[in-house]
Amino acid sequence: MQPVKIGLIGFGCVGQGFYYALEQAQLENVSIKKIVVKNPLKERSIASNNFTYDKNEVLHDAEINVLVELIDNAEEAFTIVKTAMENGKHIVTANKKMLAIYLPELLALQKKYQVGLLYEAAVCGAIPIIQTLDRFFANEPLASITGIFNGTTNYVLTKVVQQNTSYEQALLEAQQNGFAETDPTADVQGYDALYKTVIIALHGFGVVLNHKDVLRFGINTLQQNDLKFAKENNYALKLLPTIHETDDSKITAFVLPRFITTSNVLSQVHNELNAVSIYGKVSTQHFYTGKGAGSYPTGAAVLADVAALQNNYTYTYNKLNAKTKIAFTNNAVIKVYISGNNTKYLAQFNFITELETKSNEAFTYKIGTIRITDLKNILEDNDLNSEVFVAVVD
Ligand SMILES: NC(=O)c1ccc[n+]([C@@H]2O[C@H](COP(=O)([O-])OP(=O)(O)OC[C@H]3O[C@@H](n4cnc5c(N)ncnc54)[C@H](OP(=O)(O)O)[C@@H]3O)[C@@H](O)[C@H]2O)c1
Repeated sequence: MQPVKIGLIGFGCVGQGFYYALEQAQLENVSIKKIVVKNPLKERSIASNNFTYDKNEVLHDAEINVLVELIDNAEEAFTIVKTAMENGKHIVTANKKMLAIYLPELLALQKKYQVGLLYEAAVCGAIPIIQTLDRFFANEPLASITGIFNGTTNYVLTKVVQQNTSYEQALLEAQQNGFAETDPTADVQGYDALYKTVIIALHGFGVVLNHKDVLRFGINTLQQNDLKFAKENNYALKLLPTIHETDDSKITAFVLPRFITTSNVLSQVHNELNAVSIYGKVSTQHFYTGKGAGSYPTGAAVLADVAALQNNYTYTYNKLNAKTKIAFTNNAVIKVYISGNNTKYLAQFNFITELETKSNEAFTYKIGTIRITDLKNILEDNDLNSEVFVAVVD
């Protein structure tokens, strides 16, 4: 596809990073024709004649063949992307929330209008994980994928567990450094990691997950006593989304914090760094790490997608299109640590086996095995989300 004329929508953290990456790369026959932004009062780092406030200028410009969507609103982004696809434009996006929520619609639109839709930047920033899963692992069945998919929570957990920084201070630093989402609740409550898990499940296992079916718990209810537990047991604490095969050849997925031993390589991934650990049934262990967020790393991933489109690369979706489909289940059993200040709440968790209970003044924790579906139901059916902290424990 040549030449590439880009309509860029969004010139915030990632939009400016992409602009910079494109300037550095000086790709032949690739240029930005117009940039759409929202706020006419905002000062811009480049000349004002680059901008418009009317998305239709880009969506209905026949010369623009690639829309790079980098806004911070999933619903608006979907409307924009849908119109652009209907108008025959290829899409590059970093919007994991839009992708996870509208995945079936986007897959259908892609097929119907025969346009490319690439989204490397949406998952783990500069780690080229989607192309790796889609190409290298196109045919190999996987046993599991886990990792650190969210830079903000990893930054906060690194600071609070290893450096005794307060939770609030660590979160503020993540925002100031530009790797927290505009609204950091999506990060700390695990939604951001959940959206990425949905995208990874698509390419790694060929499964279209409904994000509402996946158990999710974040780090926002973490207490000093949980940190004490980590220290006393020499654990690192990470938010580790996990997708793995079950004994009955289905897959299960969950987004939970996890206490891991320091021999686990993921414990060495600090601050805003991300990591992905894949276990292939043939090739065995793989480990990738890199910058998962921020202006330039994410901008570099957007650039890689634009260059891929120029070379007519679109995802193969090999596993999605495979004859044998893998089913999703929440019936698997996991070993968890659940803590809180009120034993009334802790009593509601129906452990299969209780392995350990410890109380210290008003604080209690329990460790035991529990079925994912039971844990998910309890956390969703009651107002327990803010009363307990839940983590997988190795
Ligand atoms: N930040 C990261 O490290 C990171 C990493 C991976 C993926 N992402 C994803 O990348 C996307 C962009 O994130 P960001 O951090 O760059 O956000 P951001 O800094 O808040 O920038 C958002 C940009 O979108 C523009 N915008 C918002 N609504 C618009 C609309 N309706 N029409 C036109 N322009 C609109 C804003 O315009 P104004 O400038 O006029 O306000 C701004 O330029 C999000 O989907 C995010 O999840 C971000």
